[in-house]
Amino acid sequence: MTHAAITGWGKCLPPAVLSNADLATFLDTTDEWITSRTGIRERRISHVPLGELAYVASRRALAAAALEPREVELIVFGTCSHDDQVPNMASGLQCRIGAEGCAAMDLNTACTSFLYGLSTATAMIRSGVVSNALVVGAELISPFMDWTDRNVAVLFGDGAAAVVLQATERPEGVLAELLGCSGESREILRVHGMGGAYVNKGRPYGEVSWQFEGQEIFRKAVHGMSHACEAALGKAKLEPPEIDLVVPHQANLRIIEAVAKRARVPMERVYVNVQRYGNMSSATVPVALCEALEGGRIRPGSLLLTPAFGGGLSYCAQVLRWGERTHPLGSSDAELPPCDRSALEIVRDVLEAKRRPA
Ligand code: ACO
Repeated sequence: MTHAAITGWGKCLPPAVLSNADLATFLDTTDEWITSRTGIRERRISHVPLGELAYVASRRALAAAALEPREVELIVFGTCSHDDQVPNMASGLQCRIGAEGCAAMDLNTACTSFLYGLSTATAMIRSGVVSNALVVGAELISPFMDWTDRNVAVLFGDGAAAVVLQATERPEGVLAELLGCSGESREILRVHGMGGAYVNKGRPYGEVSWQFEGQEIFRKAVHGMSHACEAALGKAKLEPPEIDLVVPHQANLRIIEAVAKRARVPMERVYVNVQRYGNMSSATVPVALCEALEGGRIRPGSLLLTPAFGGGLSYCAQVLRWGERTHPLGSSDAELPPCDRSALEIVRDVLEAKRRPA
């Protein structure tokens, strides 16, 4: 049977850091509140468009796999914060990296987009449609953030990461998964202003407000992720003690702890970086995978579990087996252009631009 091993990985985090103390300069909040309720201490704010973050992450992932861009057969670009809807993000990435002619699609299930993309690309490799794929999770939330709303502005950050999948006969990559969605709860997380539904209401695209029932999202997230973990483990015929590392969606430390407790996995076997990046939506899991590899937390043959949830409310969990190689085959010289503004200055510019009449 054909499987889809992860053979390359790369991340791109914009350099500008927005601390909790920075947020407290323009929002009625405190470092103590944010840290104790979410675990988040800082997040990144991008000075470049989404496509640029994805490009750098993708070049790094391809170099790590030693796969030439022209050999790429499929790009799945997971995001909910597109620079453009038409043409899609994946076609722009295809041109930028030089993967001429390959299949290229965007996929949006909010924070689970990367993992839905991982399962989609894996299925296409298993069924022989393609023999490799570049799967991206990238988000530029900051331009779509309502920086006047302390309920949501403290939670999110920008970032990107990508992985390369390649066909193999070894049982590696995604072994089992559960993908799901509680569509009846979709109204508890809605970003007003991000679609055609708002065009006739006189609201310019991108002028947003967030409908966000934090406690209800919290409950649904824990329930959906726990259900997905149990189902994915059951399909893989594995028990929680056999999992070497849980790499969960990073939205809130308390959500991660609740899911780990229900899954009966001790926190020592859970990768957490939410304190440094906040919720980067679809980018959280691939960035965490990259960092877990860099830090030696993923070893040859490691079994991983990746629970996640997102707007929709989508949820999923994958059981993955890592291959023999945990180091990159090569590195890329791709870098972001230098950033000459602080994160606070970038956020203030977003606020100012929205206050100015178009
Ligand atoms: N600073 C200070 N006070 C705040 C802040 C803030 N940033 N935000 C809210 N508060 C206040 C509230 O106004 C409320 O005040 P009140 O009691 O006077 O009304 C109080 O703090 C308590 O608010 P709660 O909502 O009860 O706080 P809770 O402990 O539930 O934490 C939180 C809120 C962090 C949002 C939590 O519910 C959560 O993490 N939920 C999950 C949200 C999430 O991760 N979503 C990601 C999905 S996004 C996607 O998929 C695209």
